[in-house]
Amino acid sequence: MILIKHITHLKNLLSSYKTKGLTIGFVPTMGALHQGHISLINASKASNPVTVCSIFVNPAQFNNPEDFDKYPITIEKDIAMLEGTGCDVLFLPSITEMYPPDDPVLVYDLGYLENLLEGKYRPGHFQGVCRIVDKLLNAVMPDTLYIGQKDYQQCLVIKKMIALKNYRLQVEISETMRESDGLAMSSRNLRLDAAARKKAVLIIESLRKIKGTIKEGDLTSITSRAIEHLNQQGFKVDYIQIANAADLQPITVWDGKQKAVLLVAAFIEEVRLIDNLLLN
Ligand code: PAF
Repeated sequence: MILIKHITHLKNLLSSYKTKGLTIGFVPTMGALHQGHISLINASKASNPVTVCSIFVNPAQFNNPEDFDKYPITIEKDIAMLEGTGCDVLFLPSITEMYPPDDPVLVYDLGYLENLLEGKYRPGHFQGVCRIVDKLLNAVMPDTLYIGQKDYQQCLVIKKMIALKNYRLQVEISETMRESDGLAMSSRNLRLDAAARKKAVLIIESLRKIKGTIKEGDLTSITSRAIEHLNQQGFKVDYIQIANAADLQPITVWDGKQKAVLLVAAFIEEVRLIDNLLLN
């Protein structure tokens, strides 16, 4: 695996592949890699002769400075995992490489997507995500971008930014990878102590229970019962919401046919976890 720290070097290397007609798959990450990330690398490798992964803990997308300070960093292990998977290029830039002094702050018109669910609870988060993904896409210019369904709203936001900026690339969304008890894999799981880790499974259990019992009609009581249950178990729930799977508009009365997704964000101790489940 080739490790690159500078955008100009990355562009030079990748243009040599592109002139040979080799397609490039790109997996952006913030490190602390787990099998979810590795599944994205594998998806890219299955369809592209060249796979690029980036590791950059992006300060611009952390609305909570403590969350940024405590974001897990396991770079040696990450490099070993990427090498083991056969990733071709790792882009590992510094903060000043991505955000040089006087770097203009672009504003992306994300519409209502920016103000609901994660956008509501993490003001500025999606602008920060767009800012870095835009820069990374500009540096890599991949044929296909690989991202994970666990960050459901982020997938829609990134697609919107790609459309706004007219990037010509495919977006492949991979299913959420789960631990054996069902907990969605996440870098933030590393911050859970043993008791919190054990309890964290209640998040997916609540989603599966809703999915198993949901019927057409008014949905407000089914989600509020689940919120109450998790809060009683020591979580602090930001939201449990059923929404249109295509555009995330909230669904309060469901016809049973409209494609819907169930989304959750909840704190366990001071760690905020998110998850989602497609309902149909
Ligand atoms: O999902 C993530 O890890 C990050 O939000 C991303 C897409 C790498 C941008 O920093």
